[in-house]
Amino acid sequence: MYAVSVVSSICLLAVVLVTQLQSARAVPGKFRSMSPLRNKWLPDSEAEEDLLKVMTLADCEGRCVKHKTCTGYSYSESYSRCLLYKIKPGTPPVKNTGYHIYIKMFTEAEGYYIYDTGYIRLMKKRMSAAKATQNCTDQGGSLVAVRTKKLNDLLYKLLVKQNIWNAYIGLSDAEEEGVWKWPDGGKLGFQNWDWKGEWGRKDLNCAVITNGFEEAPWKQFECKRPNYYFCQIPMF
Ligand SMILES: *[C@@H]1O[C@H](CO)[C@@H](O)[C@H](O)[C@H]1NC(C)=O
Repeated sequence: MYAVSVVSSICLLAVVLVTQLQSARAVPGKFRSMSPLRNKWLPDSEAEEDLLKVMTLADCEGRCVKHKTCTGYSYSESYSRCLLYKIKPGTPPVKNTGYHIYIKMFTEAEGYYIYDTGYIRLMKKRMSAAKATQNCTDQGGSLVAVRTKKLNDLLYKLLVKQNIWNAYIGLSDAEEEGVWKWPDGGKLGFQNWDWKGEWGRKDLNCAVITNGFEEAPWKQFECKRPNYYFCQIPMF
């Protein structure tokens, strides 16, 4: 009897907690704040009208949900202030202690896979590397830079899931033969060439990740050949 009542009080407590958590987040899982967004504040945008005092975090999120173009908000616990934003990828947040930015996340159902503080999209319309690059750029991103095995594994998973044989990644030696670069020109990092890259084909200046072995090795590829591609899009 005693045991039963202890169990049921614990259950009751759990229910209360869950209810409170849910009411604190108007749309569970849709908006997210993460450590790179701590103490950041977006430059003034189309949002001044929405600066309101004395509002809870849940109310702030609720306003963003109802607002037609709101894709994020920032909130200060100490001032109970809420600002709604239309956040475009590439908008650089600036430091402002005390505010947190919450971003409306795209979902996997919409084809956006979270990696680090960005999204990965497998684009399923074939085009040349130049056009693919343009499309990713228009979305605020670039062709993907695969600097870790973890990201390579994610791309492999997406290829398998969509039953796609290979897709462009952002590696190219079109500028200088034999000098492979990612779109941002930064450090190469993780390398995953098929045959250890020993083909050294001078006529193939782009690269694809292949679906065939779990290692999902990369192969040189003719840049003009239309192919699927991976975009990498920053969340902010
Ligand atoms: C990118 O390509 C997709 C088709 O794969 C298309 O729906 C979309 O409009 C393109 N985006 C841009 C910004 O060009």
